[in-house]
Amino acid sequence: MQSPASDLNKEAQRLYDKLHKLGWGMEDCQLIAPTTLEINELRKEQNAVILAHSYQTPDIMYGVGDYVGDSYGLSVMATKHPAKKIIFCSVYFMGETAKLLNPDKQVLVPRVAGCSLADSITGAQVRALRRKYPHAGIVCYVNTYAEVKAESDACCTSSNVVAVVEAMPQQEIVFIPDKLMGLNLRNMTSKRIIRWDGTCIVHEGFNPDTVRDIRRRFPDVKILAHPECAPGVVALVDYAGGTSGMLDYVRTSSAKMFMLVTECGLTDRFKAEFPGKEIVGTCILCPYMKEIQLEDVLKALKDPAPEQFVEIPMDIADRARASLARMFEFEKQGKAIVQTRGGSSATSADGNFPVAPQPLAVHCSRTG
Ligand code: 13P
Ligand code: SF4
Repeated sequence: MQSPASDLNKEAQRLYDKLHKLGWGMEDCQLIAPTTLEINELRKEQNAVILAHSYQTPDIMYGVGDYVGDSYGLSVMATKHPAKKIIFCSVYFMGETAKLLNPDKQVLVPRVAGCSLADSITGAQVRALRRKYPHAGIVCYVNTYAEVKAESDACCTSSNVVAVVEAMPQQEIVFIPDKLMGLNLRNMTSKRIIRWDGTCIVHEGFNPDTVRDIRRRFPDVKILAHPECAPGVVALVDYAGGTSGMLDYVRTSSAKMFMLVTECGLTDRFKAEFPGKEIVGTCILCPYMKEIQLEDVLKALKDPAPEQFVEIPMDIADRARASLARMFEFEKQGKAIVQTRGGSSATSADGNFPVAPQPLAVHCSRTG
C-alpha cells in the first residue's frame, strides 16, 4: 500500500533535517522517503532495533538507524535493548558478534558483506597455526568470523588488544589476522608477536606522506588514526584508536581542526555530530560496508532471504563466546598489569593505544 503524500512529505522533511548538514538536498530525501518510511513502519510493527555501524552511509546511519556506533559497542548495547529482532547494518562478521552476544534474539544482516581482514583467515588455518606454534597463545582481533574466534584463546578489540596480550599466560602470542596492527602491537609489548598476513584494505591505503603534508599545512590540526594503519602512520598521529575512541577524543578535545585517518563514514558522523569543528584531509571508502543499501534493510524486514539470518552452529558459537568471555577477563587483568608497570612509551597508563577510550558499552549514540 502506498503512503499518503502528506506522510511522504513529512518523512522527506525529517530526513532533510538530519542529512542536510552532510550535503543531502531535499530532492535526495524525497527520493528515499518511501523506503525509509516503510522500513520505519515495519521496524515498529516487528519491534525490531536497527543498528548502524559508523562506516555506513548517512541514509542508513541517520535515516533508519536507531543506534550508530562501533561494532562491539553496538553488539553489547543490543544485549540491554528489549527488542527481540536486531537488524545489524554492517559487514557479516559484526552480525555474527551480535548473534554471539545475543543468542536468544533474531539477528539479520541486510547483506552478507565481507571484510578483507575477516576473509583472510579460516578456522582450519588457525588450527594449523596452533600446530606450528604449540607454545604460543592465540589472540584474534574482533574482525574475524565466529569459526576463527572459536579456534582462538582470546578475542580482542582495537581498544583492549594491549591489555589482552599482556594478560595472556604465554610469552609468545600469535596475533591474527591484521599484520599492521600486529606491528603496532610489537611497539607496545615485550611479548613475542607472531603475525598473520591480513590487512584492512582501507587503512593500509594511508601513507605517512599524506599525514606529514596535512601537519605542515595545518599546524594546529589534531590527527587521529585507526591502529589498522601502518606503524609509520600511527607514529605521526596525536591519537590512535578504534572508531569510538576517535569520536570520544574529538568530543573531549578543545581543538578545532581534525584529520581522521580512517573510513569515510566516520567523517560523516563527525560532520553530523560536531558542527562547530572542522575536518581536513582525506578518507577512504570501505567497499564492503558500502554494499549495504536501504533496499537491503527493507528486504531484511519485509521478506528476508535465508542468508540474511545470522546463524552460527552451536559448537562454534559456544567456543567463540568463550573467546569473547576471555577477552573481558584478560582486559581487566591486563590493564592492571600495564598500570603497575606504569604504561609504556607508546601506551597510556591503562594499556590502550595512546589515549584511553571510554568503556565499550557507551560506544554508540541514539540517532533519534
Ligand atoms: P570498530 O571495531 O571500531 O567498529 O572498527 C571496525 C572496522 O572495521 C575497522 O576498520
Ligand atoms: Fe574490514 Fe577494513 Fe572494511 Fe573495516 S574498513 S570492514 S576492517 S575492510
